[in-house]
Amino acid sequence: MSSSAIGIAIRNRVYMTNKHVVTGAFGYTGKYIAERLLESGASITTLTGHPDQRDQRGDRIAVAPFNFDNPAALTRSLEGADTLFNTYWIRFAHRGVTHDTAVANLKTLISAAETAGVRRIVHVSITNASVDSNLPYFRGKAQVEDAVRKSSLSHAILRPTVIFGREDILLNNIAWMLRKFPFHPIFGDGRYRVQPIFVGDLARLAVELGESRNDIALDAVGPEVYTYREMVNLIATTIGVRSRLIRINPGLAMVASRVMGLFLRDVVLTRDEIDGLTSDLLVSKSGEPPPGSTLFSQWLDENVHMLGSKYTSELNRHYR
Ligand SMILES: NC(=O)c1ccc[n+]([C@@H]2O[C@H](COP(=O)([O-])OP(=O)(O)OC[C@H]3O[C@@H](n4cnc5c(N)ncnc54)[C@H](OP(=O)(O)O)[C@@H]3O)[C@@H](O)[C@H]2O)c1
Repeated sequence: MSSSAIGIAIRNRVYMTNKHVVTGAFGYTGKYIAERLLESGASITTLTGHPDQRDQRGDRIAVAPFNFDNPAALTRSLEGADTLFNTYWIRFAHRGVTHDTAVANLKTLISAAETAGVRRIVHVSITNASVDSNLPYFRGKAQVEDAVRKSSLSHAILRPTVIFGREDILLNNIAWMLRKFPFHPIFGDGRYRVQPIFVGDLARLAVELGESRNDIALDAVGPEVYTYREMVNLIATTIGVRSRLIRINPGLAMVASRVMGLFLRDVVLTRDEIDGLTSDLLVSKSGEPPPGSTLFSQWLDENVHMLGSKYTSELNRHYR
């Protein structure tokens, strides 16, 4: 969808009530969406896997568990909401929770939102999601997009690539490794592309499109496209390290990632993630102008001291 079409969608805004539900409002992207909604005077409930967590800035956000196994309770936590902003997804299968589980959970969530009378869903997907993909992440995302489209909810589907921001894991950990080690792996030829979007731009888009009534899907990407090698080089140059980029095949990268994972007590990178990256899937192929405006290069300059100063663990964030 072009920027002018987004403009038309936003001018048609219709809120039944300024009450919304955000999944993961204490997480990464969901936190930015929630903050923007709160700034506009909205009241918010978050659905989360960490229902003991509280809003650090007071009691602005009501909290409810996901309750995927209790649709009646899930429906109750959605009642009275105008829009559901969904960020829920899993990065990789772990402890018996697979992408198929996540798809089933989201079908339960969509159906609960319909029963609760929610008007609209703003769903965060990924660029180049496809039901034909052999990668469970991208295939599962496409299955959820289908479920969103087939639902009775008015909807906006946002398809980001890599989302950069202070709390991001991927880019932060690339920077951490660059700071720590004299060598840095580049999987394959490193020519596959990445079109990162700033988390604040994604949140702005989500909130703007939440206010519309039009059914839309768009690639939520930023203004700059890098090859993976260029992106890693840019991070290294900006943080001022001279790590040598070495080309390794994905199999060897997996061995290195597993060894690092043992020391860090984390899953550093999965084979599917390497395959997703090297398959040129993290770039928009829509031909539309990018809706994100923040330059990754400029953001890097402004956040150079923070980026990669410590390792960020996916398992700590979601499993411990
Ligand atoms: N980060 C990126 O670079 C990127 C790139 C492309 C697409 N996306 C998509 O953007 C959306 C938001 O991503 P994010 O990085 O901002 O995610 P996040 O905040 O870390 O997590 C989003 C939500 O999913 C839940 N969740 C995540 N992993 C889980 C797990 N293993 N088990 C149970 N619940 C889990 C979180 O639960 P809690 O509420 O308990 O924390 C939170 O509610 C996702 O749909 C993701 O696929 C992200």
